[in-house]
Amino acid sequence: GRKSELSALLKTIKDIPAEERKQFGADANLLQKNIESRIEIVEKRFQGQASVQPIDVTAPGRSFPVGHLHPVTQTLESLTDIFVAMGYEIASGPEVDDDWHNFEALNMGKEHPARDMQDTFYLLEGFLPRTHTSTVQIRYMEEHQPPIKIIAPGKVHRNENEDATHSWIFHQFEGLVIDEGITFADLKGTLEYVAKQIFGPLTRTRFRPNFFPYTEPSAEMDASCPQCDGGGCRSCGGTGWLELLGAGMVHPQVLRNMKIDPEKYSGFAFGLGVDRIAMIKHQIPDARLLWHPDVRFLEQF
Ligand code: FA5
Repeated sequence: GRKSELSALLKTIKDIPAEERKQFGADANLLQKNIESRIEIVEKRFQGQASVQPIDVTAPGRSFPVGHLHPVTQTLESLTDIFVAMGYEIASGPEVDDDWHNFEALNMGKEHPARDMQDTFYLLEGFLPRTHTSTVQIRYMEEHQPPIKIIAPGKVHRNENEDATHSWIFHQFEGLVIDEGITFADLKGTLEYVAKQIFGPLTRTRFRPNFFPYTEPSAEMDASCPQCDGGGCRSCGGTGWLELLGAGMVHPQVLRNMKIDPEKYSGFAFGLGVDRIAMIKHQIPDARLLWHPDVRFLEQF
């Protein structure tokens, strides 16, 4: 081109002494040919490859969106680890079960008022989405005699008015221990240990009397709020305590229903609310967030 270094060089020819001018001209000619032939080579190379995109090895890599386990699944897995380390076996049962396993075998006959607290969506022919994981206690005892030491994590459904702490679909974590000489002290010791494993060694627990038709005596266990250490804050509604689970000593009638001799064997059972534990651990203010498939929320955990 006219503005190239070569053109600029050629313009200096008038300043070259006459006797050197010929040689200068020849050199400049050679240089021009050289450049042109190199351009031609490069042009040819690119013409042949016109359709091939050159690879830019220096470009930054494209990152793939990698997911991770849902916070509730993470909580289920860490609870499972705690119990497996204590020698518990993992049991499971169907999410849709029948009236016998969900209510009747657990001492809740057809007209029992305790059924009201677990109202649910009834299906045809006596089936229902299970309202609690206590169904797995029955299914396991139908197949096994003591000693029994199981956990049963799983999904449950209830006909709830949704609010910040109640969903119509949530997860429970059931436990059942039956052997000779099992007492309420075993229940307390086990569940206190678990609370400390989940929320830290300084966690305190308290047991309040409660009623479940399938345990006697029955209790609910609260843990001191890990957010305020029991002082009272928004997470615990100002009380300093968080309700974690229902539990009790397995009712003799349930053992008899399962052909286990209540004179020889005793045991304890509990049902933990997994979603609530995930909420406490991650300071999630509303249970409904857990079931909205919003990646911006989920990717925080
Ligand atoms: C029961 O479901 C009993 N089956 C627990 C049990 C098992 C007692 C074995 C005795 C022996 P409850 O309805 O309280 O109990 O539920 C247990 C836990 O599930 C609660 O402490 C709470 O943490 C959680 N939970 C209950 N309802 C909901 C809901 N709608 N949304 C989220 N979590 C819930």
